[in-house]
Amino acid sequence: MESEFRTIIEPFRIKSVEPIRSTTRAHRTEALRAAGYNLFGLHSQDVLIDLLTDSGTGAMSANQWAGIMRGDESYAGSPSFFRFEAAVKELTGFKHVIPTHQGRAAERILFAETCTAGDVVPNNTHFDTTRANVEHEGATALDVVIPEGREPATLHPFKGNVDVLALEEAIDAAARVPLVMVTVTNNSGGGQPVSLENLHAVRAVCDRHGIPMFLDACRFAENAWFIKQREAGQGERAPAEIAREMFALADGATFSAKKDGLSNIGGFLAMNDDELAARCRANLILTEGFPTYGGLAGYDLEAIAVGLHEVLDEDYLRYRVRSIEYLWEKVTAAGVPCVSPPGGHAVYLDAKALLPHIQPSEFPAQSLCVELYLAGGVRGVEIGSVMFGRTLGDGTEEPAAMELVRLAIPRRVYTQSHIDYVAEVVAMVGARATELGGYRIVEQGPWLRHFTARFEPISGADVGDRTL
Ligand code: F0G
Repeated sequence: MESEFRTIIEPFRIKSVEPIRSTTRAHRTEALRAAGYNLFGLHSQDVLIDLLTDSGTGAMSANQWAGIMRGDESYAGSPSFFRFEAAVKELTGFKHVIPTHQGRAAERILFAETCTAGDVVPNNTHFDTTRANVEHEGATALDVVIPEGREPATLHPFKGNVDVLALEEAIDAAARVPLVMVTVTNNSGGGQPVSLENLHAVRAVCDRHGIPMFLDACRFAENAWFIKQREAGQGERAPAEIAREMFALADGATFSAKKDGLSNIGGFLAMNDDELAARCRANLILTEGFPTYGGLAGYDLEAIAVGLHEVLDEDYLRYRVRSIEYLWEKVTAAGVPCVSPPGGHAVYLDAKALLPHIQPSEFPAQSLCVELYLAGGVRGVEIGSVMFGRTLGDGTEEPAAMELVRLAIPRRVYTQSHIDYVAEVVAMVGARATELGGYRIVEQGPWLRHFTARFEPISGADVGDRTL
């Protein structure tokens, strides 16, 4: 409902609360040191405002909890599965719905059943798990987002759009392209939306080449809201109608219910192709479980079925996107550079612009993450050269395109005063940016190194001793 008032309030009341805990800077310094300066290694009770991810961290509604009580735990053929399947089919229109324990399980199965060594899988921007699962099959994960999508400060209403010419060229140059993915919204590029017009254009390219098109649909509802707000002729349509058109353009989708499923766990792989679906179900049974539960409890399937409906509520989406924009406005007003315009689930600080004195090989975004935690107990996540760069054979670092710190906002969890506090912490750290120093990696794994790498400050100075 449109309102005559300017303030966009949280469209819910709070029925159940969880305490959060303030700590001292000395305590946080000790915790960070023990974690090898990797914020993934912290105990979450040592974090005051946790913006590490919007994935699985949302608050469920009373209706979702009611669904959990209704959950039927039959191994095969549970009514909870059929409610889940009906909700996914109504939303997406796909013929086959395969539940998975989360998004990356859907990715693993899809790429295992479609990719072979030497293939190329284009995407606007692969998320880290998507890239890793493609590469695990020996295929190449290629990013073909429009140039504006790689430039933090450049304004464009649909910075997640696929560069259609680059996609055509990639298809022509590749030995084989088993499928084209489009990530809505484009998480690694700033939570930026993809327009319906662009999805139609990608569909046309795929049709010309006889290649299936899949959505990485984790944040489909936020994407639909941006289309409603920004795309010509879409303003009068319901988000659900727009979302259905997005899915109707694709041959299938991978989905993490931990985002726009408004659930703490879960996901699905959906598609129209009968033969591919049969192979994916067989693969699912190896590691996830029987095809009517796919590694989830019956009660999880119920929570997702309700969540998929609630997430398309206009009041919810208006509040959701506005609350991200609100943080972006405050941070931008404090002079801290950000990806602009703001995305649908997070504010992305531009560490390359804020910390020009720290080379990408010394991980400026990691440095900024560490300082936000030390200064105010706020945990963000590095989306830069730690996540997407790599160490080459000669020991040098190949940097990522951008050095970002993502402050991802869990759904329906934090209030406006929490966000005001976060903005204050960011502004304080931003004002003292010149005092921040770089980091080096002292330990890392063979893939997805950001989860487990350990770091040390390059200056050798103990970061806890600064007065920041
Ligand atoms: N695709 C995108 C675009 C994602 O953002 C994620 C997860 C996945 C796939 C994988 O889903 O976690 O359920 O296995 N993103 C989380 C994040 C982890 O913090 O952005 P999953």
